Amino acid sequence: MARSEQQYLSGFRNHFESEAETGALPVGRNSPQRCPYDLYAEQFSGSAFTAPRGENLRSWLYRIQPSVVQSPYERVDIGRMQAPRQTPADPNQMRWSAPPLPEAPTDFVEGLFSLAGNGDWQAQTGCGVLLYTCNRSMADRFFYSADGEWLVVPQLGRLEIATEMGVMSVAPGEIALLPRGMKYQVRLLDDSARGYICENYGAVFRLPDLGPIGANGLANPRDFLTPVAAYEQRQADCELVAKFGGHLWATQLDHSPLDVVAWHGNYHPCKYDLARFNTVNTVSFDHPDPSIFTVLTAPTDTPGTANVDFVIFPPRWMVAEDTFRPPYFHRNVMSEFMGLIHGVYDAKAEGFEPGGASLHNCMSPHGPDAETFEKASTQPLEPVYQGDTLAFMFESRYVFQPTEQAVDATFRQRDYVDVWQGLDAKFDRRKP
Ligand SMILES: [Fe+2]
Repeated sequence: MARSEQQYLSGFRNHFESEAETGALPVGRNSPQRCPYDLYAEQFSGSAFTAPRGENLRSWLYRIQPSVVQSPYERVDIGRMQAPRQTPADPNQMRWSAPPLPEAPTDFVEGLFSLAGNGDWQAQTGCGVLLYTCNRSMADRFFYSADGEWLVVPQLGRLEIATEMGVMSVAPGEIALLPRGMKYQVRLLDDSARGYICENYGAVFRLPDLGPIGANGLANPRDFLTPVAAYEQRQADCELVAKFGGHLWATQLDHSPLDVVAWHGNYHPCKYDLARFNTVNTVSFDHPDPSIFTVLTAPTDTPGTANVDFVIFPPRWMVAEDTFRPPYFHRNVMSEFMGLIHGVYDAKAEGFEPGGASLHNCMSPHGPDAETFEKASTQPLEPVYQGDTLAFMFESRYVFQPTEQAVDATFRQRDYVDVWQGLDAKFDRRKP
């Protein structure tokens, strides 16, 4: 990289500009007759050209060679990609332990595992849920998804994500947002890595409106960090893997595709440290709905009904009086996929482990397990700091269909429903 130290621009989907060589950005025009340094100008669009100004996303990339310098795409079979199963949707609550780390050398693409999905990439609705486990950096392999924007949630191991528009390091506790179509390479900064991915087929993630909360709170825009321009001018046999229509395709290049010397625009990757989330919660009674912990939302045309929300359950004080403090029992029209980055989730005594996952689909009942219920209904309600916890949820209006391999996985907990079976009937009409 011509610029190796990592620097970031602060703000959420702002119009930024960055150049790795002085004077590489054209001044006053996007595509001059000849670009500085004889770079090629390429527009990278994340919305229809005619999207309203507030939602219009595009960047101009000034690169050593345009993206069209590539061989024809061919289907490849890398990683464990699978479409959601076609059998009737299943109302059963499901849970998985953390997937085992690979023993054979496995890079990020090779270590992808499709877990579930909903909606339809072709109709640009819904999302896919993937896990990744890997133990080596991508070498001369690069990747992009044409199917959706990738929200990467590392659970184990730090990643260096070298994108066309700059390099980000992302550790567990942080998230990365990679625009649909953005080319990148994932390198490992530790021996192995594991995490979750939400592939959002719908409208791009944005910050939720804050309503009566006011102008500040939850995720603040300034804490989203976009890398500055960095490029490599490298002749080598490179493979660019594209996720397109649910399958992987590869094209061969004779150079690194990370050759963008300068760029400007508002369609770019970013990262966010979840520790910066300004958690808002009750200071009186009752357990607020989990929507109060929304970091990012991908809306649909129906107000307040998300294609997918990214919600976290971060470290926080629990102070509610006369309240059952863990998440309540409930049934929801929205479907909920959950993961745990570290620590313990307050609705589950055991079984929901870091790196694991759970799925509670539309109207399937869920809530605290029997052990948690017993404890939370009797313990003294002192202020408690729940510090060792970081869970998250991908919550969608569309029912998630697990993949066949997720249903059959050795790390699926087939006895999950048992955690609730100790919730005995205690009602006695003689004891109000
Ligand atoms: Fe729930």
